[in-house]
Amino acid sequence: MLFRKKQKGKIDESRVPTHVAFIMDGNGRWAKKRAMPRTYGHKVGVDSMGVVIRHALELKIKYVSFYAFSTENWNRPQDEVDEIFRLMADAIERRRQWFMDNNVRFMTIGDLSRLDKKLQEKLKDFKEATKNNNGLTVNVAINYGSRNEIVRAVNKIISDGLKSVDEKTFAKYLDSGEIPDPDFVVRTSGEQRLSNFMLYQNAYAELYFPKTYWPDFREKEMDEAIVEFQSRDRKFGAIKTPMKKDSK
Ligand code: IPE
Ligand code: IPE
Ligand code: MG
Repeated sequence: MLFRKKQKGKIDESRVPTHVAFIMDGNGRWAKKRAMPRTYGHKVGVDSMGVVIRHALELKIKYVSFYAFSTENWNRPQDEVDEIFRLMADAIERRRQWFMDNNVRFMTIGDLSRLDKKLQEKLKDFKEATKNNNGLTVNVAINYGSRNEIVRAVNKIISDGLKSVDEKTFAKYLDSGEIPDPDFVVRTSGEQRLSNFMLYQNAYAELYFPKTYWPDFREKEMDEAIVEFQSRDRKFGAIKTPMKKDSK
């Protein structure tokens, strides 16, 4: 379709990515700019998550992942860590009914065993309640690190007595085993690194680093991100250009 080039800036709803993964960065800087405590940035950041989830549903994206707390984030002041987990527990309470009403499944990746027992229960309960919802899947990375996930997978493989595995089997042993790899990684705040996020799964993801701080990342910014994704030429090592095949 030749006219597509003229529609620059518009989303083609027939070609949205299947799985978009967000590295939600810049909450602290966003708050600092407003002379507010870092935790205020996290609070408003949770609102951005809500907006992005709602918009993903509208765009008929099937999977969204959010990096909420890394294995390295324990190195932050205790107050900040406590507040991040408090906000998480609070969001689960407040959004539960919405997830049910909108056929949205909740899941997590990461090692939850280090979290407060009550929060562990809450997360388990929320996953259980939404496990048959099949519209959108919201995957939240909590106490997540790729290296930690890979090593846990290897240990599970050993304890299952497997002598060798292929790529497909190995991927199944990761926490994200049942969901497809991200097509698109969006890291806000201008930092250009993966910070130990889904390294195995992101082997062929398109990467995008908007300058916007996460609390300001809303519908408009998400639309811009999807337009950016749709302008990329995904090749997977081959020569064909499947995404642009009908625009030439
Ligand atoms: C991301 O924002 C949220 C988490 C890592 C939990 P930051 O808290 O990293 O914000 P900056 O990078 O300090 O601005
Ligand atoms: C990555 O952000 C982790 C999350 C978004 C949860 P950080 O702000 O912790 O990453 P670094 O320290 O800048 O790499
Ligand atoms: Mg940061």
